[in-house]
Amino acid sequence: MTTSATYYVAIVNSLGCEGESLEGLPQDRVELVVGDIVDGTVVDKLVSEHDAVVHFAAESHNDNSLTEPGPFIQTNIVGTFQILEACRRHDTRLHHISTDEVYGDLALDDPQRFTEATPYNPSSPYSAAKAGSDHLVRAWVRSFGVRATISNCSNNYGPWQHVEKFIPRQITNVIDGERPKVYGAGTNVRDWIHAEDHSSAVWTILERGRIGETYLIGADGERTNLEVVGRILEHFGRAADDLDLVTDRAGHDLRYAIDSTKLRTELGWAPTYDHFEEGLARTIAWYQAHDDWWRPHKEATEAFYAAKGQ
Ligand code: DAU
Repeated sequence: MTTSATYYVAIVNSLGCEGESLEGLPQDRVELVVGDIVDGTVVDKLVSEHDAVVHFAAESHNDNSLTEPGPFIQTNIVGTFQILEACRRHDTRLHHISTDEVYGDLALDDPQRFTEATPYNPSSPYSAAKAGSDHLVRAWVRSFGVRATISNCSNNYGPWQHVEKFIPRQITNVIDGERPKVYGAGTNVRDWIHAEDHSSAVWTILERGRIGETYLIGADGERTNLEVVGRILEHFGRAADDLDLVTDRAGHDLRYAIDSTKLRTELGWAPTYDHFEEGLARTIAWYQAHDDWWRPHKEATEAFYAAKGQ
């Protein structure tokens, strides 16, 4: 498969900000299909017309899964089942995108990081649904010979991220003159990677990954939530403590940390954005310049959080 011959199809289940995010991509290379991944007929037709599937589709936000878990079971588990069945029927190469959250969390003072050998131990409806989907992929590889790989990535940041997520929420709060809202004591640790580095890792695995293998993707970007918010506030010239500590997330995972040695040594991948603070500054600039993209989703997002004391 070469880049020039590749034809991309994005499947989204509504024309919300996902659809808008695809605007401007080359029309001759990208087709937008509005459909539901749970709809086996739609999925089968699309899979039959293509030589590889990169399965990014997911309900991905923990806070939403704590309010309404049903869609997470449908999209993440039943949707993955539909993709797997279509790939089995058409002998199509599959790369399944997953999350480091399937491994549960690490203690704040634990020197260990997640590896491909870490046992699954998900905490939330979101991460349990993703863990279930990973298990389905492994079973379809072993039982039916589906040509699949899996990647589990750490926290993404960068342009085009929904304002419900931590970094865009805090950036847009500060742009609006509000205070960042930090759960609990703000000591939880996340391992940040720029979304473009996640994508380059996925492309590397699609091209050179060994069938049946799992690869962890991470860029050594561990920061506490207070450190991240402190950087954002500093960027805007505000004091590092100009924030609100709000109601903690139920079951809040303490720390995620990725050891991506396998991906780096076996496939030769390395991140481009190896300086988090620089990537964050560019992300802030993007949100300042794209008010028209995120603004329509901000009010409803803040109302959702306000109802939960967050
Ligand atoms: O680790 C990979 C995962 O990272 C992905 O699989 C998920 O799809 C993605 O949402 C992300 O999960 P998190 O739950 O870690 O991301 P979130 O942006 O929701 O929160 C990051 C941290 O910030 C977490 O400790 C909760 C905290 N937080 C979040 C929000 C939205 C706050 O303190 N305040 C907030 O307003």
